[in-house]
Amino acid sequence: MMIPFLDLAQPHRALEENLVGVFRAALRRGAFVGGEMLEEFERAFAAFCGTHDAVGVGSGTDALRFALMACGVGRGQTVVTVPNTFIATAEAISQAGARVDFVDVDAETFNLSATSLEEFLHNKCRMDPGSGRVIHSQSQSVVTAIVPVHLYGQPADMDPILDLAARFKLAVIEDACQAHGAEYFSRKQEQWRRVGSMGRAAAFSFYPGKNLGACGEGGAVTTSDEDVARKVRMLRDHGQVRKYYHQMEGYNGRLDAIQAGILRAKLDHLPKWNERRREVASGYDELLAAANGEVALPSEPGWARSVYHLYVVRAASRDRLKAHLASRGIGTGIHYPIPIHLQKACETLGYRIGSFPVAESAAEEVLSLPMYPELTRELQTQVTECVLEFFSEPKACVAAVGSQHDAENTHRPQQTLGSATFLKSH
Ligand SMILES: Cc1ncc(COP(=O)(O)O)c(C=O)c1O
Repeated sequence: MMIPFLDLAQPHRALEENLVGVFRAALRRGAFVGGEMLEEFERAFAAFCGTHDAVGVGSGTDALRFALMACGVGRGQTVVTVPNTFIATAEAISQAGARVDFVDVDAETFNLSATSLEEFLHNKCRMDPGSGRVIHSQSQSVVTAIVPVHLYGQPADMDPILDLAARFKLAVIEDACQAHGAEYFSRKQEQWRRVGSMGRAAAFSFYPGKNLGACGEGGAVTTSDEDVARKVRMLRDHGQVRKYYHQMEGYNGRLDAIQAGILRAKLDHLPKWNERRREVASGYDELLAAANGEVALPSEPGWARSVYHLYVVRAASRDRLKAHLASRGIGTGIHYPIPIHLQKACETLGYRIGSFPVAESAAEEVLSLPMYPELTRELQTQVTECVLEFFSEPKACVAAVGSQHDAENTHRPQQTLGSATFLKSH
């Protein structure tokens, strides 16, 4: 039996009538852009995240770009993020006009390491005594913002990141594109916080495979800063304050009404879906305990409640394990095979292999197993038995899948992305 990495048809079957109803309502009202459906979703999503505002936009990439721009990010600035994320995080920074830079991630959680960030600020930057701002020594640009990514659905350790941000006058824009509903226990505030509510602004993606996915493209910026919300509303709509009064140069980056209506309908199910993902994750933890030593299981610190957008294990023999699972009809993913600093698109930044060792070793070892709320215990057991089988019969498995997969296990930035180079170092 085939077990896909992701099943997008099944969850929609159960909601079909409801979702068709959304489409019908939009058709009857003739309201496709903006309007009640959008506003209702924005109110509900802001309440869900614990923010004053949510602003629906065209995609997670739009959300990141608009959030950065609305927080004042632009030319002559550096914004720091992590190298092991989807390329959109870096694209948004670059497209907002800033220079993108990276710090390495924590070896256990694969999220932004506050220690690496502090080292970056101390070793690669200097403080300008006049403005009290941090200047990146090599590029002479002002470091103005940090983008921690809540990767795989697990929150980054925000307390020390927010402390550094306050000390060095940096805006924090959360990349929450993979983490709808994840929670972080702030030891400082002694309370649980939803991701999307901790930075000055946050970006969410509603790409179909996300924990909360549209039936097409979509995204949102969450914020409790009224000025940021106002600017994002303008940026998504050609810089308009009202029809044909353009206060700034903007974009066509709106969330359409049908997608907003669909997201509103699905939002009611999100807590239950996230809970189910957490059950699937503990199922994997339990069933894969026997392979401990061969595969490293994801680690969830006590201060994190991950929503397991992805369940990612680590194995030195990752490529052979992936091929073995594929030969048994089990789909897997790699998030991500090449860290951003080694992508062809980023070559002008001047980084090379060895620049961010933790992110680089993650790229060689990570493997995402099938993960969705509908994954039954039976199917999950088939996946884990197949993993255990691989490690119990190493010779047979190695012989069966051949050696070409070992060769996949190297960074080949020059060969992967064609010739486009769009991220420039300033
Ligand atoms: C971490 C991260 N950031 C940004 C994005 C961009 O979102 P979108 O594809 O909706 O533009 C994604 C989407 O996969 C993501 O995973």
